Amino acid sequence: MSPAPRQVAGFQADPEFFRLEERTEFDPGPVLEVLRGQRLGVIFRNVIPDGAQKESVARFWSSPARRHREGEPSHYIGSYHWNKSTETYLVETGEVAAHVREVLDVPDSPWQSFRSGLSAELARHGAVLRIAEHQGAEACPALIRAWDKEGSFALEPHEDEAQCADPRQAGFEIQGVRDHEVCAVNMCVEHEEGGRLVIWNIRPDDESRRRLGIEHTGFSYPADTLTGFDELRIDVERGDVYVFNGAFVHAVDTSKGNRTNLSFLMGFIDDRTVVSWT
Ligand SMILES: [Fe+2]
Repeated sequence: MSPAPRQVAGFQADPEFFRLEERTEFDPGPVLEVLRGQRLGVIFRNVIPDGAQKESVARFWSSPARRHREGEPSHYIGSYHWNKSTETYLVETGEVAAHVREVLDVPDSPWQSFRSGLSAELARHGAVLRIAEHQGAEACPALIRAWDKEGSFALEPHEDEAQCADPRQAGFEIQGVRDHEVCAVNMCVEHEEGGRLVIWNIRPDDESRRRLGIEHTGFSYPADTLTGFDELRIDVERGDVYVFNGAFVHAVDTSKGNRTNLSFLMGFIDDRTVVSWT
């Protein structure tokens, strides 16, 4: 009997490309390479100062804007553009942005350090980093999430590119990222056990997305559609900051206790502009 055909097809990177660079100090150089599609990803180990981690975690759990959602992710503050209209996303952002800023604006803010470091690097290349906007309204600066879901994945396998083609968001500048690379930025401020980052060596094509009925969401890819592809499983500890190409299918595996991250998406939308959103 021949095996069932794979449900997912697309681009697979060379083995030399399919790895995460590890560093012990923040360096915007490899981040720019991720943005340019020259590198899969990079993880900076233990670069968030202890005090900033503790203060971010305290403000997250005590925030009146923290929401609980069954499934994944379990607790979060912020808004996300996934699977809705631009207008809905921006209205929701307007309601919560000040609470998000409250969690981000801690002394030695990792969000601020990352962005100022990357901005300086981009400036050397004549480019800027800014929050995405639409008709005078700004996207959310970050989404703060805590996963505590049991099961094989705390966050099911998905990719971040399909959601940038939602017709309800036509005209929103983030859709320009599809001509470049969509990059996921994560900053881990709380971690107990498990919750590894998993990345599969597959960038699904549109036909595969259509077949799975996830053309504009990229969520989710059943585990059996991914068997046979190489995968990375990366231990993530509190204090780590990591950036990777979100067009490759990725997930967070089983997590025990809280795993709390500050995150956003970013990408070039033209040669001189990197925008971020959530
Ligand atoms: Fe993602």
